[in-house]
Amino acid sequence: MSRYSETYAAWQADPVGFWKQAAQNIDWFSPATQVFNPDAGAYGRWFDGAICNTCYNCVDRHVAAGRGDQPAVIHDSPITGHVARYTFAELQEQVSALAHVLRGLGVAKGDRVVIYMPMVPQAIFAMLACARLGAVHSVVFGGFAAQELATRIDDAAPKVVISASCGIEPGRVIAYKPLLDQAIDQSQHKPEHCVILQRDTLTCDLIAGRDLDYAQAVDAAIAAGAWTDCVPVAATDPLYILYTSGTTGQPKGVVRDNGGHMVALRWTMEHHYGIQPGEVFWAASDVGWVVGHSYICYGPLLHGATTILFEGKPVGTPDAGVFWKVIQDHGVSALFAAPTALRAIRKEDPSGALIGDYDLSSFRTLFLAGERSDPATVDWAQAKLSRPIIDHWWQTETGWPMSGNPVGLGAFPVKPGSPGKPMPGYDIRVLDDEGHPVPPGTLGNIVCKLPLPPSGFPTLWNAPERFVKSYLAEFPGYYATSDAGIIDEDGYVFIMARTDDIINVAGHRLSTGAMEEVIASHPDIAECAVVGKSDALKGQKPLGLFVTNDGSDRDLVELERELVTLVRSKIGAVAAFRTAIEVKRLPKTRSGKVLRGTVQKIADGADYKMPAAIDDPAILDEITAALRARHLIGEPA
Ligand code: COA
Ligand code: AMP
Repeated sequence: MSRYSETYAAWQADPVGFWKQAAQNIDWFSPATQVFNPDAGAYGRWFDGAICNTCYNCVDRHVAAGRGDQPAVIHDSPITGHVARYTFAELQEQVSALAHVLRGLGVAKGDRVVIYMPMVPQAIFAMLACARLGAVHSVVFGGFAAQELATRIDDAAPKVVISASCGIEPGRVIAYKPLLDQAIDQSQHKPEHCVILQRDTLTCDLIAGRDLDYAQAVDAAIAAGAWTDCVPVAATDPLYILYTSGTTGQPKGVVRDNGGHMVALRWTMEHHYGIQPGEVFWAASDVGWVVGHSYICYGPLLHGATTILFEGKPVGTPDAGVFWKVIQDHGVSALFAAPTALRAIRKEDPSGALIGDYDLSSFRTLFLAGERSDPATVDWAQAKLSRPIIDHWWQTETGWPMSGNPVGLGAFPVKPGSPGKPMPGYDIRVLDDEGHPVPPGTLGNIVCKLPLPPSGFPTLWNAPERFVKSYLAEFPGYYATSDAGIIDEDGYVFIMARTDDIINVAGHRLSTGAMEEVIASHPDIAECAVVGKSDALKGQKPLGLFVTNDGSDRDLVELERELVTLVRSKIGAVAAFRTAIEVKRLPKTRSGKVLRGTVQKIADGADYKMPAAIDDPAILDEITAALRARHLIGEPA
C-alpha cells in the first residue's frame, strides 16, 4: 500500500508543520525563528532566521557520525578508462583544502565562483568548497561555448573561475582553457583568478599571476595541514546560481538557497527515491544541469549515500551495456536518467541482450526525467529490466520533483505517459489562458499555487523584476511553470508541451529565441525562426528557417553551413543545431508575430488548424514545400 495519499494530505493540512518535521533531518547551527515567513521575499521564505552550512551537512556530519570510510563519490569514467573512489573522510580533506585555496584567493561568504568543468570529481569538490565558505557557485555546462560562458561571467561577476584543461567527448578532446580565456576576453567583468585542473589527456598553459594549478594548490594545502571550518550562513542565503534558458538569449539565473534546499532534497532521497544512507545512487546527468546539482552532488551526499559521477555516454563508451556495468560494478540501488539515454540504448541493443551480461541484483528502481517519457521506451525498459520505471517531472526552478511517484512511501500504480502525482509541497492546478480552472482531463497551463515549497527559487539573480514578470505575473497567486498539460480524474499529471519557446533536445533545455538571435546576427539573414522538430532519439531537434536579405545570391548550402557553425560557436555543440533552410517568407499574424507553433506542427507532419489571425495562408504551403524539398517531411498520402 502506498502512503502517498496520507502523506500528501498531511502536507495539505499543515504545510509548515510538514517541513518543520522534515527539517529535523538537517543539522542546523541554530534553528529557524520562523519556519515559513510569508512576508519575506516575493512569495515568502523558508527557514527564516536559521543558520546552517550545506557542506557541513553533505560531508562533515557524516564523518563525525562514523561514515568517514564509506565511499562518498565514485568517479567512473569509461571515456578515460579510470575509476576513482573518495570516502567521506577523503572528500572532507579535498573540500577543506580547496576551500583554503579559494579563501587564499580572497573568496569569502557571498562571493561568486564560476565552475566550468567536465565530469570530474573536482567539479563536486569545487561546489562543496564554495558551500563550505558560504560562497555562491555557478556551474556552467561544459557543452556551452565561450559566449555563453561570458554572459554568465558578466551576470554572476565571479571572483574566481574553477575550470579544467579539457573535457573529453567521444572522438574528440575539448580544450576548455582557450574557451575560458576567450570568454574572459569577451566579458566586461574580469575574474581575479582561475584555478585550473590539468588533465593528462590535454594540458594547457597557465597565465602567470592569474591562473593557479588546481592539484598543486590543493596538494600544498593538504601537505601544510590546512583546515577550513564550515562558515555559518543564513538558510535564506544563496547556495548557488544556475543559469537556465529563458525566452531570450539572456539566460535566467535561478537562485537556490541553503536551508530549504537541504530540507527538500533530504526528504526526496528517502521518500521519493527510496534510498537509505549508505546505498549507492546514480544520476546519469551532468553537474552543469539541475539534475546534476540536486542528485549527483547535493541530494545523495546530504543523505549519507554514495553518489556516482559518470564520465561517459549511454552508448559508444564503449557500448550500450555501460549503464548496466556501472550498476553492477558499484552496487547501484537506483538510477536516474533521461529518456533519451534509454532510447539510445534501446536503438543499439533492442533485445536488451547486454542487460543479461551483468549482475543487477542491487538495482531496484529506474527514474526518468528531464523530458517527456514516451510510453514505448518506458514499456521497453519495463520489459527488459523488470523493475519499476518511475517518470517524474521537475524544473531547474524547483530543484526537485514537482510530480512523481514516491517509492520510499510505497509507489502507486504507474500510468504510462504520466510523471505521477503532485508531490507534497506542490498544489498543482491546470488553468485556461484567462486563469480559470479547467475540468479534469482538459489541457491547460500547469501552475503551482504559491508559495513554492522549500528549495523553490526565491528570485532570479540580478533580475527580481524578470522573476515576477516571467513566473508570477501571468496567473496571480500561482507560479507559472510554462508547461502545458493535464491532470486527470485520478490526480495524475501529464506534461504535454512547453508554452514558451523552450525546446528539449536530448534532455537539454534550450532556447529557440537564443538560437534565433545568433542566426539573425549573420549579415545575410533578414529574419528567421527556430522550432523544435520531433526526433525519435533526442525528443526534439532544432530546425531553423531563414529569409535572406533582398538581393542576396548566397549559395544556400554554404550559408547553411555558416549558420550551423555560428550557432555551434556562439551557443555550443549542445544546441545540436544542424539544419537551416531558406524560405521566401515566414508565416505571421497580422500583428507581425511569427507563427512558430504552426511551423512546428508542419515540420512534425502533424495536423494543424489554420490560425485565424494569419496574414497570408499561402506561406504555410511554401514552408511545407521547402521542408519536403529537403525530405524533412514526407509527401502527402
Ligand atoms: N561538453 C562538451 N560537448 C558536449 C558535452 C559536454 N559536456 N555534452 C554534449 N556535448 C556535445 C556532443 O559531443 C555533441 O557534439 P557533436 O555535435 O560534435 O557530436 C553535441 O554536444 C550534442 O550532444 P548530444 O545532444 O548529447 O548528442 P550526442 O549525439 O553526443 O549524444 C546521447 C546522444 C543520447 C547519447 C546523449 O544526448 C545523452 O546521453 N543524453 C542524455 C542527456 C542527459 O542526461 N541530460 C540530463 C537531463 S536529466
Ligand atoms: P530543466 O529546467 O532543464 O530541468 O527542464 C525543465 C523542463 O523539462 C520542464 O519544464 C518540462 O518541459 C521538461 N520536463 C522535465 N521533466 C519532464 C517529464 N518527466 N516529463 C515531461 N517533461 C519534462
